[in-house]
Amino acid sequence: MTEPLGLPADFVLGAATAAYQIEGAVAADGRGPSIWDTFSHTPGRILGGDTGDTAIEHYRRMAADVATMAALGLDAYRFSVSWSRVQPDGRGAVNQAGLDFYRRLVDALLDNGIAPWLTLYHWDLPQALEDAGGWPSRDTAHRFADYAETMHAALGDRVRTWTTLNEPWCSAFLGYGSGVHAPGRRDGADAVRAAHHLMLGHGLAARRLPGSEVGVTLNLYATSPAGPADDDAVRRIDGLQNRFFLDPVLLGRYPADVVADLAGVTDFGHVRDGDLATIAAPLDFLGVNYYTRNVVTTDGPGDGAGHGAPGLDVGSPWPGSEHVRFVRRGLPTTAMGWEIDAPGLVEVLHRVHTEYPALPLYVTENGAAFHDTVAADGGVRDPERVAYLDAHLRACAEAVGKGVPLRGYFAWSLFDNFEWSWGYSRRFGLVHVDYATQRRTVKDSGDWYRTTIAATRRAP
Ligand code: NOJ
Repeated sequence: MTEPLGLPADFVLGAATAAYQIEGAVAADGRGPSIWDTFSHTPGRILGGDTGDTAIEHYRRMAADVATMAALGLDAYRFSVSWSRVQPDGRGAVNQAGLDFYRRLVDALLDNGIAPWLTLYHWDLPQALEDAGGWPSRDTAHRFADYAETMHAALGDRVRTWTTLNEPWCSAFLGYGSGVHAPGRRDGADAVRAAHHLMLGHGLAARRLPGSEVGVTLNLYATSPAGPADDDAVRRIDGLQNRFFLDPVLLGRYPADVVADLAGVTDFGHVRDGDLATIAAPLDFLGVNYYTRNVVTTDGPGDGAGHGAPGLDVGSPWPGSEHVRFVRRGLPTTAMGWEIDAPGLVEVLHRVHTEYPALPLYVTENGAAFHDTVAADGGVRDPERVAYLDAHLRACAEAVGKGVPLRGYFAWSLFDNFEWSWGYSRRFGLVHVDYATQRRTVKDSGDWYRTTIAATRRAP
């Protein structure tokens, strides 16, 4: 039997996915194109020229996939809605067939005793809204709030937990700053505007989800100096990566030092009176996605933060701080090149809890990519992933022991899937997917997670 991890018996243990990474069926039932369809079909943007056209065919295989979740014993399943399936142009009339897919998914989850955790936006902006200006345009925030209300009217009676945005840092700074993500634009000022309008959209949407548990998911990193002279590098990167989102959302203000760092990039003329009060809408929880620690320096060469696949031509996602570099310390890494640093998760959770107003926290993503293969006996041996998950769940237990109101954890990901600019070359799943046949195989880590969930339920 799996050794108990020390988690409370009511700790939520789930797994996560996102629409564009798994659904496929990009032209089915009236779905409109999103920025990821356009981007993935643009030569040179995705490693190997991969696209999400087929992905893991979850749209077609949903019922069997929910059965897999039930077999693993998941308490909760975090998924995202493809906005352009529901509103093909991002505004106006609802595409009933697209909405019905999510109704069927939610019903199947509830029938299996799995709590649906719905994310409204996991990076796939309807292309029509990008054509109208995208996230740098203020109107997109209002369209997002309308879409949130539409989804809530349809599913608010059955979905209790709603997340507005997943990792707005990525949407803003990788989508509009470095261009490594869709829509692939490279303009620091646009990236900062996009970040603001994403957060504004979050705040506007939060008001339109009455009676639900509402949160937002941020990708937070532990941040450390490479050397004794690197405190300012830490301040800058922690500022742009973590505080630039935490402060507006939880404190209703931008961090003054980051605004100063960005003086040569933007004058923040896009921020209107009242915006920050809207952005700081009361929340029921904060979602934290954690993968690794950023170790930074301004001294000598770094070797990349792993935010883009090698060989793809991208800019910097750090407007105003392009001189800061990322350093590896020689720790074991995942297939993404990200160093494995479970203590960083304790650090992040404890920091959020102590430096910001107290709020229930959830780890809404954590996991590791490795180059998994199916063995001759049909199994998938992934001991490194088991060790990664074990160490990070122990970090969760440690945070709980320190008084952090951490209530749950979602493994990224339930299935191998489309890893954005890395295409299908990086596998994060608890369940292996053979992309040629779409055969699913529960990996050893999936079995380990199942026994861990069962053991946690029995905890005294
Ligand atoms: C964060 C994102 O939310 C998810 O879509 C992505 O696949 C994982 N990190 C791994 O990079």
